Amino acid sequence: KERINEPVTKVLSFARDFYHHILEHTELGRPALDYLEQRQIEKETIEHFRLGYAPDNNLLAESLQQNNDFNTQSILESNIVSGTDSDLYDYFKDRLMIPITDDSGNIVGFGGRALHQQDIKEPRYLNSKQSDVFNKGNLLFNLSAAKQEISLVHEVILLEGYFDVISAWQAGVKNIVASMGTSFTKHQLGLLNKVANRVVLVYDGDDAGKAAIDKAIDNLNNQHNLEVLVAPIPGGLDPDEYIKKYGSDSFKKLVNKDRVSKYRFRLDYYQEGIDLKNEQELLKFIDRILNKFVDLKDDLVQKELYLKELAQISGISLLNLQNQFNQHVVK
Ligand code: UTP
Ligand code: MN
Ligand code: MN
Ligand code: MN
Ligand code: MN
Repeated sequence: KERINEPVTKVLSFARDFYHHILEHTELGRPALDYLEQRQIEKETIEHFRLGYAPDNNLLAESLQQNNDFNTQSILESNIVSGTDSDLYDYFKDRLMIPITDDSGNIVGFGGRALHQQDIKEPRYLNSKQSDVFNKGNLLFNLSAAKQEISLVHEVILLEGYFDVISAWQAGVKNIVASMGTSFTKHQLGLLNKVANRVVLVYDGDDAGKAAIDKAIDNLNNQHNLEVLVAPIPGGLDPDEYIKKYGSDSFKKLVNKDRVSKYRFRLDYYQEGIDLKNEQELLKFIDRILNKFVDLKDDLVQKELYLKELAQISGISLLNLQNQFNQHVVK
C-alpha cells in the first residue's frame, strides 16, 4: 500500500491548481484551450477533471521555490520538477495536464498529453515518474471520482485511456475508470473487486485493445466474484472516437445493451484473421476456444449455446465437440 506523503501531496495539489489556472485564466493556456475545444471537451468537463496546461517554461518550479509552504525535498519528491536544489526546472512542458488521484482521492501524479504531433521520441502521453507516490499499475484513473456511481449500479466500465474516460463522462456514462494503457494489473483488479460485482471491458477496438481484452479476461477469471462482460467497439475506434462519431446515446447503447459475454467475445475474436477452410487453422481454433470455454462446465445452457455455434462454424458435430470439451475440462 502506498504511503501518503503529506508534503508531496501539497506540492502536487498546488501544481494541479497552478496548471488549471494557467489553462483557464491566462493567455499562456490558449493553445491547450484550443486543443480541448477541437476535441469537443466542454467547460464543465474541464472543471470536473480539473484539467490544466503546463506551459513551455519553468514557471511552476519558480512558483514552488518562492512559496514558503514547500521545502526543496518535497518539491523534488513530487517529481513535478527535475534538477537539483539550486537548479530546478519543470518536468512537464507544453502539455495538457490530467490530474491522477489514488482510490481515496489524493492526488498522486499527472498524465500529460502533447498538444502537437511531436517527434517519435516524445511520447504522446508523459506520465509522472514511477515513484513511491505514483505507480501507474497500482492506480485506476478516475476511480475515486467514479466510486459512488459504481457502487450504485454495482458495475464498473473499464476503459483504456484518459480521453476515453473524459469523453464517456461527458456523454453521461460515469461508472468508468481507465487502466491507462492495455496492461491490466493484479493490483488494479483488486481495486475493481473492492467496488463492483461486474466489470464491462470497453478497450479500444484496434488489435492491441482486443488482444488486451483477451488477456484481461484471463486475469479476471481468477476472480470468481467479478462477472465479466465485453463491449467490443467496431471499426477499430476507441471509446472517445466512437462517441465523437456516433454520439452519446449510441455509446450508452453499446456499453449497456450491446455488451456480450466473454465467451461470445472470444468466439468472434478468435475467428478473426484465420481461414476456417484451412484444416490446420480450424483445428487450432477449435482447440483454443475449447480451452477457454472450460469454465462453462457447470453452465449447461451457455455451454450448449456456444458449442452449438462452434459446431455450425466448424462442421464438427455437437456430440463430438462436447466429448472434446470434457477432455479439456479433465486436463
Ligand atoms: P492510446 O494509445 O489508446 O491513446 O493509449 P489514447 O488514449 O487514445 O490517446 P488520445 O486519444 O490520442 O489522446 C491509451 C492510454 O494508454 C496510456 C494513456 O493512459 C492513454 O490514454 N498511454 C498511452 C501512456 O501512458 N503513454 C503513452 O505514450 C501512450
Ligand atoms: Mn476552474
Ligand atoms: Mn489504444
Ligand atoms: Mn485509444
Ligand atoms: Mn483516443
